[in-house]
Amino acid sequence: MAYQTLIVETPDTGVTLVRLNRPEALNALNSQLLGELGQVLDAAAADETVRVIVLTGSEKAFAAGADIKEMSDKSYAQMMTSDFFTAAARKVEQFRKPIIAAVSGYALGGGCELAMMCDFIIASDTAKFGQPEINLGVAPGIGGTQRLTRFVGKSKAMDMILTARMMDAAEAERSGLVSRVVPKDKLLDEALDAARKIAGHSPLAVLMNKELVEAAYETTLTTGVALERRLFHSLFAFDDQKEGMAAFVDKRKPDFKGR
Ligand code: HXC
Repeated sequence: MAYQTLIVETPDTGVTLVRLNRPEALNALNSQLLGELGQVLDAAAADETVRVIVLTGSEKAFAAGADIKEMSDKSYAQMMTSDFFTAAARKVEQFRKPIIAAVSGYALGGGCELAMMCDFIIASDTAKFGQPEINLGVAPGIGGTQRLTRFVGKSKAMDMILTARMMDAAEAERSGLVSRVVPKDKLLDEALDAARKIAGHSPLAVLMNKELVEAAYETTLTTGVALERRLFHSLFAFDDQKEGMAAFVDKRKPDFKGR
C-alpha cells in the first residue's frame, strides 16, 4: 500500500519500519497522517509475519506535535465530534505487538504523546521532548498530562507542561522517559537491532510480556503479580516454551513457531 505521509518498509524479517514523512511540517500530525498510521497498524495487526514495529521520524523531528494549522479554526463541536486524534491514539494504545519509538530531534506535543504511547523510546542524543501546548492556549490532548506524569513524576511533568520547556535526551534518560540514548547516526541501527531481537522471540511470549508490563500501569501490585503468575503458567501450554527450554539445554538457538 502506498502512503503519502508515511514510508513503510520491512528492513528485516518480522520488523516493520514506519517513518513519519511530512518534512515540510516537521512531521506534524494531521488527519491524513493519523489516518494512514491507523491503516498501517490495522494491516500489521492482521499480518502474522509482522512481529514488531519501529516508529521513527526524521533526524530533525520525530513529530513537532499535532498540526496546528489544521486545528486552529476548529470549533469545540468539531473537535468533540471528529474523534480523529483519539481514534488514531486508541489504535496505537491497543496495538498488541511491540512498537518501539526511535526519536531524533523534536518530539513535541502530540509527537511526545505518540512516542510515549509506544512500548519504549530509544532516543538520539539530539532528541528534545516537550508538551508546549500551553503556549497555544491549550493542553495536551492525547495522554500527555497522564503519561508524562507517570514517566517522570509530578514535579518534572508540571514543570514541563506549565512552562513548556523542552527536555533534552540526557534529562529524558535520567528521568526514565527513554530507555536508552545513542548518537544520532546510530539511532536507527540501535532501534532495528532491538526490533530484530524481539522479532526472534516467541510471539506468544512477546504478547504476554507486553500485556503484563502494561498491566503494571493499570492495576494493584497484588493483582498484577497474580495475573503474571497465571500468564506465566499458561505459557507452559505452548510448544514455544518446550522449544525455548530444550534449546537452552541443547546449547542451540531456539526455533520458535508461535504455537
Ligand atoms: C503545523 C508545524 C508544526 C505543527 C512545525 N510546523 N510544527 N506546522 N503544526 N505542530 C511547520 C512550521 O510552521 C514551518 O512551516 C515548518 O514546520 C518548520 O518549522 P519552523 O518553526 O520554521 O522550524 P524551527 O524554527 O526549527 O522550529 C522548530 C519548532 C517549532 C521549535 C519545533 O516548529 C515549533 O515550536 N513548532 C510547534 C510545536 C508545538 O507547539 N507543538 C504542539 C502542537 S499542539 P513553514 O510553512 O512556515 O515553513 C499538540 C496538541 C496535541 O500537539 C493534542 C491532540 C489532540
